[in-house]
Amino acid sequence: MLSVTPNTLGTATVPAGVITAGFSPVEDESRAINGTVGDITAAEPRMTARNVNVYYGEKLAINNVSLDIGKNEVIAMIGPSGCGKSTFLRCMNRMNDTIDICRVEGEIKLDDQDIYASGLDVVPLRAQVGMVFQKPNPFPKSIYDNVAYGPRIHGLTSSKSELDEIVEQSLLKAGLWDEVKDRLDEVGTGLSGGQQQRLCIARTIAVAPEVILMDEPCSALDPIATARVEELIDELREQYTIAIVTHSMQQAARVSQRTAYFHLGELVEVGKTDDIFTNPRHRLTEDYITGRFG
Ligand SMILES: Nc1ncnc2c1ncn2[C@@H]1O[C@H](COP(=O)(O)OP(=O)(O)OP(=O)(O)O)[C@@H](O)[C@H]1O
Ligand SMILES: [Mg+2]
Repeated sequence: MLSVTPNTLGTATVPAGVITAGFSPVEDESRAINGTVGDITAAEPRMTARNVNVYYGEKLAINNVSLDIGKNEVIAMIGPSGCGKSTFLRCMNRMNDTIDICRVEGEIKLDDQDIYASGLDVVPLRAQVGMVFQKPNPFPKSIYDNVAYGPRIHGLTSSKSELDEIVEQSLLKAGLWDEVKDRLDEVGTGLSGGQQQRLCIARTIAVAPEVILMDEPCSALDPIATARVEELIDELREQYTIAIVTHSMQQAARVSQRTAYFHLGELVEVGKTDDIFTNPRHRLTEDYITGRFG
């Protein structure tokens, strides 16, 4: 197990000779982060990020972040606006490749596969590591075709009946089947916001991903639709690994087992969600969860 330098209330520095798994103390003491507090490892990691830096042009947006995402866990990523949550999440399936000025350094693996290896095809990667966005974004196609889209382009089925089965199972797992089974030919964009988001989750599930990344998936939803999606996240955890960015600390507390707190591009603290919310070790985490900033 990698144990990352403990740091009480942002004042400790790394003692000489302590191996910090590539974590170097932040040189500018005024930022008082000095490496990540807590255990960045997961018992059964699916994704491992090590010493990740992300630049937009000259600007460093993620600074030396290392983190595991474990099997069957929901990890919440929290922190003030602009701290790099979305940037880090997008590194996990190379969505940042779509931003010209963005450059990623460090190592990110899905199981043993280096996802930044040269020549790696990002299309299957983005099926293995699916993403659900803040704003539900169904295609302007039928409900059926939204879900069938991925299996078709990835050639996952050879017959119509197999495809029907995948569509039904995906909608069932996304908790939407009963609401749409009689209107599969209607356009996905005609559903309510909460239904559209569950449709997008069904579309992601349809290609049998291993990891699902969710960037504020409930921020456009009302409280009832939010509760439905949160329940769903909990159910999906049995089969998938989920990383969710959220601005709602209540949501992080409700859906996640581990929480990672980001601040100014650094991973300040990570730990069991209960511990982070009841007994944060870093003062910046404490300030954030008690509402002193952010
Ligand atoms: N496409 C981009 N081009 C240039 N800079 C960017 C781009 N996307 C993000 N940034 C910068 O990178 C930093 C981190 O942004 P990011 O969107 O990852 O933050 P965030 O934590 O997701 O914020 P929010 O909670 O507001 O969504 C910010 O300073 C932001 O301005
Ligand atoms: Mg964001």
